[in-house]
Amino acid sequence: MSLIISPSVLSCDFANVQRDVEMINNSDADWFHIDIMDGVFVPNISFGFPVMKAIKRHAKKPLDVHLMIDNPDQYIEDFASAGADILTVHFEACTHLHRTINAIREAGMKAGVAINPHTSVTVLEEVLDSLDLVLIMSVNPGFGGQKFIESSIGKVAKLREMKTNLNPDLIIEVDGGVNLETGNRLVEAGASALVAGSFVFKSEEPINTIKALKGLQS
Ligand code: DX5
Ligand code: ZN
Repeated sequence: MSLIISPSVLSCDFANVQRDVEMINNSDADWFHIDIMDGVFVPNISFGFPVMKAIKRHAKKPLDVHLMIDNPDQYIEDFASAGADILTVHFEACTHLHRTINAIREAGMKAGVAINPHTSVTVLEEVLDSLDLVLIMSVNPGFGGQKFIESSIGKVAKLREMKTNLNPDLIIEVDGGVNLETGNRLVEAGASALVAGSFVFKSEEPINTIKALKGLQS
């Protein structure tokens, strides 16, 4: 399967959301990465359902929704109704992770689990076979434009080994500080999906930047 590119809408121009959504529609990107922050799980607040639904109205590609919120269970149905195709919750925010994963799938979405930089991939061993995606955070979640944390490369490699036995179809997605240089090393280590926010939206020609990311192959 070819490398999945998921531009993070968090870095778009919110006064021109429709224009930036159309840019992604017309690019080589595969998904829209939607960052939802509650100001509790992370020290920032992004946007909620009205903005997400507006994006969904124009998006012609799947919505890859990354929940940086405490107690995500109570909102699973709402995110399905708002148009999430993939719903990713944080390991650190879920007491009953197995139940949460099942609820996401029962609501008709693909299920993902994100792990913070300090969390080992090994904590996911028991649930790996019921996941579609693991999101390795390569920055501390909360903000775009942060510096890539180097130890993320080793985590990707370790997860690639785990998935061989437990879930060969698992998508390994990485989020934070992704550019062509870090992206290249992540793909070599086993990443199958890359999120990129500021690298795409702060570039002169976002369409070309997305194309260049899409061209990274292992
Ligand atoms: C950070 C978010 C990211 C963010 C990435 O908490 O989860 O998706 O938008 O931004 P960059 O690519 O600029 O690091
Ligand atoms: Zn994200």
